[in-house]
Amino acid sequence: MANTDIGIDLGTSNIVMTMGNKGVVLSEPSVIAYNIRTERVIAVGRQAYEMIGRNPSHIAVVRPISEGVISDDDLTQSMIREFILKVTGHQLIKPRIIICIPSFITDIESRAVVEAAKSAGSRQVYLIQEPIAAMIGAGVNITKARGHMIVDIGGGTTDIAIVSMNGVVTSHTIKTAGNSIDRSIIKYMQNKYKLLIGERTAERVKKELCNLYDPSREVTYAVKGRSLLRGLPTQVLLSETELFEAIEDDTFIIMEAIRKVLEDSPPELVGDIHDNGLLLTGGGALLGGLTQLIKRTLGIECRIAKDCINCVAKGTGLAFSKMNTLLDGFETATVYKYR
Ligand SMILES: Nc1ncnc2c1ncn2[C@@H]1O[C@H](COP(=O)(O)OP(=O)(O)OP(=O)(O)O)[C@@H](O)[C@H]1O
Ligand SMILES: [Mg+2]
Repeated sequence: MANTDIGIDLGTSNIVMTMGNKGVVLSEPSVIAYNIRTERVIAVGRQAYEMIGRNPSHIAVVRPISEGVISDDDLTQSMIREFILKVTGHQLIKPRIIICIPSFITDIESRAVVEAAKSAGSRQVYLIQEPIAAMIGAGVNITKARGHMIVDIGGGTTDIAIVSMNGVVTSHTIKTAGNSIDRSIIKYMQNKYKLLIGERTAERVKKELCNLYDPSREVTYAVKGRSLLRGLPTQVLLSETELFEAIEDDTFIIMEAIRKVLEDSPPELVGDIHDNGLLLTGGGALLGGLTQLIKRTLGIECRIAKDCINCVAKGTGLAFSKMNTLLDGFETATVYKYR
């Protein structure tokens, strides 16, 4: 692996980049702010995220890759370019790049991503599937004829896959993930308390109060927003039980999706998964009580990958050293060169 090789996890919520042996060199929200009149990029990443909901009308702040699809090609290209230039320090080092793209992405959209990387000076661009990158990042040996299961709960999508011999055997992607959970919280607060809260508040409540296993009425969190009745700032004490109620449907959908992948997989591999357990990655892996809930509902052991938010990016970076094995005989399933 050369020191300039770059690995990119192009997530709907966060972009994480690794470089050479340095590991993770950038981790920022996938947000871009630009001037509508001049079409100039004003900020990307964290700086742009801070502008959400605080921007004047001539400045647009957007997440160009939302819900696992690229909603705006040009903006996605600009954003990726800015991030690559940020880590390369605008030097002409012509890196090789492996990008892990969201699973929903179409061929045309992935072409836009590859073009963006090329326009930022890349020599060669490869694409890798998320479950493969996540497994490599978590240090799982996927070269053998043994089944491993991964569930990556990101912002836009939950990706569930069973992997064996460097390839994806069965997989399923659903749009129920971090963002939809946040939206359910917003809806619940509106319906039950007539309280209007923003995306960032909903996300904070989810991180602080979530307990999917044994939610209690006593544990509460103060949620601040605007009363829909009086139009003034108000605060509501929300309990774990109520939060559970708010996001129960989303959780159920994720459980059912895992069950479906297990049902659709060859029995030998399902047997392996019974022994190996299931690996959770992505920010959603940190949902309070999730591992215990999976154990209780599906009867399989489950563990959270170390550094679960950066796991995919790390795997993308490590894939450079495994390129030969990944390419060998697994052309479409794993890493392939863009032509
Ligand atoms: N402690 C936590 N508890 C619950 N959810 C969390 C926690 N930390 C982060 N998240 C959620 O994880 C999600 C982001 O995860 P991640 O960075 O893996 O997504 P992504 O890779 O950008 O998205 P995708 O894989 O769908 O493209 C967000 O919805 C965020 O709210
Ligand atoms: Mg992701």
